[in-house]
Amino acid sequence: MCGIVGFVGNEDCVDMLIDGLSKLEYRGYDSAGIAVMDNKQIEVRKSKGRLADLTAKMEKEGRLKGTCGIGHTRWATHGEPSDINSHPHGNKRISIVHNGIIENYRDLKAFLIDQGYSFVSETDTEVVAKLLDYYYDGNPVDTIAKVIGEIRGSYALGILFRDFPDKIYAIRKDSPLIIGIAKNGNFIASDVPAILKYTKEYYLLEANEIATLTKDSVSVCDIHKNPIEKELNVADWDLDAAEKGGYEHFMLKEINEQPTAIKTTIAPRISEGMPYLEESGMTKEMLKGYNRIYIVACGTAMHAGLIGKYVIEKLAKVEVTVDIASEFRYRNPIITDKDLVILISQSGETADTLAALHLAKENGATTMSVVNVKGSSIARGSDIVVYTHAGPEISVASTKAYAVQLSIMYLLAFELAYAKEAISEEECRRLTKELQEIPDKIQDILVLKERCQFIASRLVNAESLLYIGRGLDYALSMEGSLKLKEISYIHSESYAAGELKHGTISLITEDMPVIAIATQENLFEKTLSNIKEVKSRGAKVTVICREGTKDDKTFANHLVTLPNMDDLMMPMLALVPMQYIAYYTAVLKGCDVDKPRNLAKSVTVE
Ligand code: M6R
Repeated sequence: MCGIVGFVGNEDCVDMLIDGLSKLEYRGYDSAGIAVMDNKQIEVRKSKGRLADLTAKMEKEGRLKGTCGIGHTRWATHGEPSDINSHPHGNKRISIVHNGIIENYRDLKAFLIDQGYSFVSETDTEVVAKLLDYYYDGNPVDTIAKVIGEIRGSYALGILFRDFPDKIYAIRKDSPLIIGIAKNGNFIASDVPAILKYTKEYYLLEANEIATLTKDSVSVCDIHKNPIEKELNVADWDLDAAEKGGYEHFMLKEINEQPTAIKTTIAPRISEGMPYLEESGMTKEMLKGYNRIYIVACGTAMHAGLIGKYVIEKLAKVEVTVDIASEFRYRNPIITDKDLVILISQSGETADTLAALHLAKENGATTMSVVNVKGSSIARGSDIVVYTHAGPEISVASTKAYAVQLSIMYLLAFELAYAKEAISEEECRRLTKELQEIPDKIQDILVLKERCQFIASRLVNAESLLYIGRGLDYALSMEGSLKLKEISYIHSESYAAGELKHGTISLITEDMPVIAIATQENLFEKTLSNIKEVKSRGAKVTVICREGTKDDKTFANHLVTLPNMDDLMMPMLALVPMQYIAYYTAVLKGCDVDKPRNLAKSVTVE
């Protein structure tokens, strides 16, 4: 999604804006632009394409200079990626950058056209810029307050007024925006990595708080101009965490960071060998008192929820419903004040998951979020937050965030099962110990990369492939399939192995490779029959299974074996070869692994 950076301070801001935007590239974008106050005039440069295209354009049209400016990377929603549709938008006296969607922009546009305004772009953002111009009365805060009263939707806005050349104004609702406090000036930004090089200190802007930044001050007020005291946050991510650190891609670095991420996430939630989620405010008494549990999320986070469902239902014998967030609120789910709704999100800003949170709250349910980004909208809106400690995940394809989400799902299942007396203390301790062993086991299997690289070389020319599995393996295969298609652009589908012969097996030819996940001992024989069914029909089969699996020399064309653990824990190991296979296939195809086409890291629009 779009990224915003702004700086007002003691030094030239152009390089800082470009550098900050480069740290937000992971969010996904297709054009970029900056507006800088130069000699009391607003100067704008913008371009379709990457930041390199913007800097090339600046070389051609003249480099901007100034100590106060705003920048933007745009992920097209209203109007194609083009120079004209790129941000900033505005005119000679007002310039804005915007993240989000203005839902009533058509009505506002019609109104402004009646008032004599004309439009050059197809964007909803230009409507906000013109509306600011329409209401401008010499007082930026009053003007912003009036505009906020008119627009509906989500927004994070950075605004320059020519009449106030040393100030940046900012406001947000349902789209993230932070204010960075640095020695040499102050920043606005969509996310912490954009400011980490200059400062770790930042304020979180709440909905419809208006911020005014100068080089040495930040003031925040509500739309009635009542001043608001903000609490200073200090990021615990360091700059290295947001750099590639010698790896070719962030995705590869993040796959390799999984052992540490899991260790850091589970350590504070295990006390004397038992799961301990109470530090988040979720007591055992509360946990066992809910009628129903919903898990709601999108994409990879939803896949983590599916594993959670299996594990919770198996251990705690409590029914769990997993919903795709974009479906949840439109299917009229039955939610009561006796239910627990768990929202899983790496970014904590995913629009559909946020909307599901609001729906759950409106219906009186207890909401608990499993979120990676501190202070994000989903975290702040939830009754209970369990932060995962994966550090910044920059690659669009989620890897370490998935691993830590899974570990929280396991801890939750153990704690709930024990609280409900569905498992004994001894069993709970045994499972918790297995979870604690996962980081070292993953560390060991990271060496599988060469094996996976070879398998990827066999998949790279496929047009389409199939993932199959049963039970937990099926839930995991959905994530494997998503990972492969999002970064390598090879179509793939994940199928319950036993369901193949009800239709999908007709697709099997020698041109349709199959990746079978068969780590579940109790289901192995059955999955093996399905593997043989596809292999005998010509498919080249890669099997991910346990070490020592019998028959393992003949039933697969390629085999990846994993150390033995409890069936329940096997997804935490099998995720690694799946991530590697996707990664190396994409690398071999020459794809832009960390920034796949059309995708955004944090999906802040519906
Ligand atoms: O930030 P979130 O965890 O809420 O994001 C949810 C999905 O958009 C995300 O997991 C997406 O599916 C990833 N690109 C998958 O790798």
